[in-house]
Amino acid sequence: MKILFIGDVVGSPGRDMIQEYLPKLKDKYRPNMIIINGENAASGKGITEKIYKQFLEWGAHVITMGNHTWDKKEIFEFIDDAKNMIRPANFPEGNPGKGITFMNINGTKVAVINLQGRTFLPAIDDPFQKVDELIAEAKKRTNIIFLDFHAEATSEKQAMGWYVDGRVSCIVGTHTHTQTADERILPGGTGYITDVGMTGPYDGVLGVERELVLKRFKTNLPVRFDIDKKGRTQLNGLVVTIDKNIGHAKKVERILINDDHTFFE
Ligand SMILES: [Fe+2]
Repeated sequence: MKILFIGDVVGSPGRDMIQEYLPKLKDKYRPNMIIINGENAASGKGITEKIYKQFLEWGAHVITMGNHTWDKKEIFEFIDDAKNMIRPANFPEGNPGKGITFMNINGTKVAVINLQGRTFLPAIDDPFQKVDELIAEAKKRTNIIFLDFHAEATSEKQAMGWYVDGRVSCIVGTHTHTQTADERILPGGTGYITDVGMTGPYDGVLGVERELVLKRFKTNLPVRFDIDKKGRTQLNGLVVTIDKNIGHAKKVERILINDDHTFFE
């Protein structure tokens, strides 16, 4: 079982990169399943139903979210019907949507979980406690479990990696928009990367126009952050190959496509 995960898609530059490169990535890696983090897909904050459906049309099986889940108000209208979308499972009780989903991929069941960290992010429920509950739920149905841990601190992501090692097939960190080069298979058989990175502007600051971010740093005045649509673009992701029977990762391959890292078909 091969799963392709694409990191935080930022606005139209990110969506354009998916449209251009997803067919090439499918040809090169032949993934059985595609997961996209879409929490920044609508102009950097949140997602719309149109974009969600577009991702599915392009071949995504599951869309994961994060701290920007509720930023586009229309999400409240469609999230409960969006069966391929999950948001962090440790959002407080009563939040719409769900944090785990099961997909049937050519007769094989795959569980996908989304959780959010609490260091430098809102004080939501404990992701460590929640992951125990969700792994127990998933294990009743499958050994193949994929986790998107949306968190700011590298320490929290590493800690979660060790915590779930041997219990999930793969954990990818998302949210920082900066890819880490530490992909590995942990001793218990779990594929791991601290942060998979982002898909969108390459010449901004985490996807935002760099002049605006600089102005904020230099003046400390309020500045509206707009997506950088003038510069070059990038795509960041990871492909994990999983042993279908035991649910352990056999191989992890980091994907980095930008003008400094050319894509070879
Ligand atoms: Fe985020």
